[in-house]
Amino acid sequence: MTKAPNPGTLTADPIAGLEGVVAAHTSLSDVDGQNGRLILRGKQIEDLAGRVWFEEAVLHLWHSYVFSDIDELKHAFGIVRQAAYSVVPVMEAASEGLGVYERMQLGLAAMPISKDRPQAVTISGALPVFLAAAYQISEGKSAIAPDPQLSVAEDLLRMLKGEEPDADHVAALDRYLVTILDHGLNASTFTARVIGSTEAEMKQAVLGAIGALSGPLHGGAPGPVLDMIDAIGRPENADKWISDALLRKERLMGFGHRIYRTRDPRADVLKAGLKKLGTNNPKVQLAEEIEAAALAALRKAKPDRALDTNVEFYTAVLLDAIGIDRTLFTPLFATGRTPGWCAHVMEQQANGKLIRPASVYVGPQAE
Ligand code: CMC
Repeated sequence: MTKAPNPGTLTADPIAGLEGVVAAHTSLSDVDGQNGRLILRGKQIEDLAGRVWFEEAVLHLWHSYVFSDIDELKHAFGIVRQAAYSVVPVMEAASEGLGVYERMQLGLAAMPISKDRPQAVTISGALPVFLAAAYQISEGKSAIAPDPQLSVAEDLLRMLKGEEPDADHVAALDRYLVTILDHGLNASTFTARVIGSTEAEMKQAVLGAIGALSGPLHGGAPGPVLDMIDAIGRPENADKWISDALLRKERLMGFGHRIYRTRDPRADVLKAGLKKLGTNNPKVQLAEEIEAAALAALRKAKPDRALDTNVEFYTAVLLDAIGIDRTLFTPLFATGRTPGWCAHVMEQQANGKLIRPASVYVGPQAE
């Protein structure tokens, strides 16, 4: 027989999705959802992305935790990339059925963490090598060795493409990596902080965060955004395709956000990157028309909820424009976000306490 639930001394109802719950004080990033602003340690995202290299943005975010000198950080990242390459045989030996994302996680799991340098440097510096190696292995090819002299974005693109990358493409990738470096207490960052709060190794926190990022409601959206653009194919198909999807109660990928009640500022930062690549890409024009149709349809379908363009919409268009395969969008997001996760783990471990919320038992009582 089931007895009435006994909530004990806890009476508060759980807040769905922890929406609005404050779980940390942070100096790392501020997501202003009302005004559509993103601040990274006192700097607007527009003043970083496209203006400073990824390494400089990472140094800015890590300031006071790791290194204060940009050349030291660049040098350390180069050495770490070389060390990470020695892990590639483990990644090659894994079963064929493994996807790029899992194989990249495998590389990180197998990476020795030296005590001689900050863990954040080893982990963040190694991810580009694991991403590129996982991709080459998935294509049936051999991984390409890193060049420690190059910037992270240039070396990553070179290892992915197997050739000297176009300078404009490197700049676009670098802009993307800076844009997604950190973003408040999103699901994967919260995951990293929870794991970090147990005093687990930073590597474990990043592996867990990579898992949390993978879902379509978080970092898994940009591949499906490109699928949607391809499925629509022509501007005149957009209205019908979108209204049919909304009638089927599907979510339009690349739109809506838990915090932003206006346009995600990162969407415009990435759109500006597309403009720098030139205006003769028909897919960019198609994407703009689809975006306009989607926004109009969402306003009509959900008049009470401000649903606007999020970062993933133009992530898909920008990464596609520089020739990055859609299977790499989420792994690339993880690679760029890793220094952000590491920063949150360091902040949590410096200031925080074990994160251990409560639950209210509503199951049957013991007989
Ligand atoms: N398309 C259609 N309807 C939507 C969408 C969308 N993209 N987003 C939200 N809604 C509707 C939702 O169905 C709900 O309607 P109802 O109240 O009738 O059930 C209402 O708006 C409120 O949605 P919610 O699920 O309470 O909002 P949330 O804050 O939990 O969700 C979100 C945020 C990003 C998960 C959601 O907007 C979504 O699923 N978007 C599509 C996936 C996507 O683009 N994800 C990338 C997010 S940005 C990258 C990142 O930072 O992680």
